[in-house]
Amino acid sequence: MNSLVRRSAQQLNLWRTYCVKHNAPEAASPGRNAGKPNYEEFIGRHQRRAQCSIVVQVSSEKSYAELYNYCSSFGSILGAHHYCVRQDETLHYILLEYATPSEAAAAIGAGVTNGELSGVPVRSPFLWFRAAGGGKRSPKLVPNPAPTLLSLDGTRLADQGHLLGLLRGAADIEEQVLQLHEHTRLNELGVRMRFLAALQVQQAIAGMFPAAQAQPFGSSVNGFGRMGCDLDLILRFDNDMGAKSSLEEAVPSRLVYHTKENLSNGRSQTQRHMECFGDMLHLFLPGVCHVRRILQARVPIIKYHHEHLDLEVDLSMSNLTGFYMSELLYMFGEMDPRVRPLTFTIRRWAQTCGLTNPSPGRWISNFSLTCLVMFFLQQLRQPILPTIGALTKAAESGDSRVTEDGINCTFTRNVDRLGFRSRNQSSLSELLLQFFEFYSQFDFHNRAISLNEGKPLSKPDHSAMYIVNPLEQLLNVSKNVSLEECERLRIEVRNAAWVLESEVENASVPEADGQELSWGLLNLFKHPEKAVIRPNMFFKPRMVEVSDLFEQKEAGATSSSTAPT
Ligand code: CTP
Ligand code: MG
Repeated sequence: MNSLVRRSAQQLNLWRTYCVKHNAPEAASPGRNAGKPNYEEFIGRHQRRAQCSIVVQVSSEKSYAELYNYCSSFGSILGAHHYCVRQDETLHYILLEYATPSEAAAAIGAGVTNGELSGVPVRSPFLWFRAAGGGKRSPKLVPNPAPTLLSLDGTRLADQGHLLGLLRGAADIEEQVLQLHEHTRLNELGVRMRFLAALQVQQAIAGMFPAAQAQPFGSSVNGFGRMGCDLDLILRFDNDMGAKSSLEEAVPSRLVYHTKENLSNGRSQTQRHMECFGDMLHLFLPGVCHVRRILQARVPIIKYHHEHLDLEVDLSMSNLTGFYMSELLYMFGEMDPRVRPLTFTIRRWAQTCGLTNPSPGRWISNFSLTCLVMFFLQQLRQPILPTIGALTKAAESGDSRVTEDGINCTFTRNVDRLGFRSRNQSSLSELLLQFFEFYSQFDFHNRAISLNEGKPLSKPDHSAMYIVNPLEQLLNVSKNVSLEECERLRIEVRNAAWVLESEVENASVPEADGQELSWGLLNLFKHPEKAVIRPNMFFKPRMVEVSDLFEQKEAGATSSSTAPT
């Protein structure tokens, strides 16, 4: 294998070019993060953009000029995106972004109720643009030309045939990994649509709960989300988001809110409240449909579909550790530009060999798989990521975060304080191969994976796979994984190492001889007729053809609950 781990200047340049393209200062100095928004800034910026935005259903993108003309009377429109949702028919929407939240609020405030429908009138950023005629307001003439309408698909996957073509036509495996990431990750519009869904919930309850915050977490915001990923949303009432003024700290108010006393225990109270919110969302919020209450889960959630955004949402009211875990993953992804493309490739590979599955069960989840990748990058001889323990040690007073249930989520939010600089120069294809080799040797039977320590620990119980939950260290993130699935993972990583080794050794890209050209990642994703069946392979993996794979809607695993387990 050593012969494969050869550094090529060309590969190094490729990822450096990638860093520059993605505005990653690591290009010059790996491990440094200067100038990039931290997680809270990233979240804050998107929350503000959501407050400046409205989504208007139109009959087609041809309505844009008229819509722009009309809506410019409420403020200056900075940008516009067109997207489609396909139900029985194709529905068209235009997301308009105003310069300020008050302009968007003016547009929303000018909306009227559809008199033909009997529903309770609700104000929300989701509107539709009716034909001219009945309107009393005469639109101002707009002196400036409308900004270009960007037609982006914020809901669906990139065209799979196109992606397949890109992977076939790439120069090497390195480029395949980068292309895969670039064309499957959640795009800017997808992120913005998710923040709008969050804002809708928050605004709906703001009258009674002005301090409530609906905050996205999970793959929608941690930078590991693919197009079509679900939105994990937490409804927070803890009001610890804004720093208190020094006066408030020094002189606590003598006026205390009367609060309704609840006699039941915390969990059943949360379940009851969620039931109530579930009804409210179901009955009143435009776009919300197929509401399901999963209240018996460790962390109760409400699931729903948003039909104007074509989005699945999991709403919880507890589990703040999941929110801070997303911050940790976001930071890891920002620290080195190889982290996300590598993780995307491994998640895609796991999907193709049926290791992950969209429905929850005894298989490994995308989140656990991501933890495996992070751990692999920590334990390298030249680590690419620091341990979480190191992040905790570097925390300052402003980094202190303790959840309502007393779980300490304190770690530094400024990675520059660590002084961590990775000297690892491995290419993405080398790392991919090393990942497969590492886990084909890993002693899952006796060892647990600890991202806090960055090294394996003795396994505290008999779970088939043990990944210490970084923020609740008595819990196992992969408790759900069965012995059979863990063994299957070991077999699949071994096969993948074998396939990739021959692909890397055979480094020259085959000449294109028509559509059937398959090499590099395509062979890794092609399940595994060509791979050698190892002697101890007792489980027959699901067979997936590359062509099938690229026809399916991507179905990464999502666990039913975002609960720490
Ligand atoms: N989470 C956690 N502990 C778990 C499961 C989830 O802390 N045992 C947190 C993680 O921050 C995770 C988030 O909850 O990112 C959402 O979980 P989930 O939706 O299962 O995973 P995602 O990372 O969002 O991935 P996917 O795209 O598959 O939804
Ligand atoms: Mg998710």
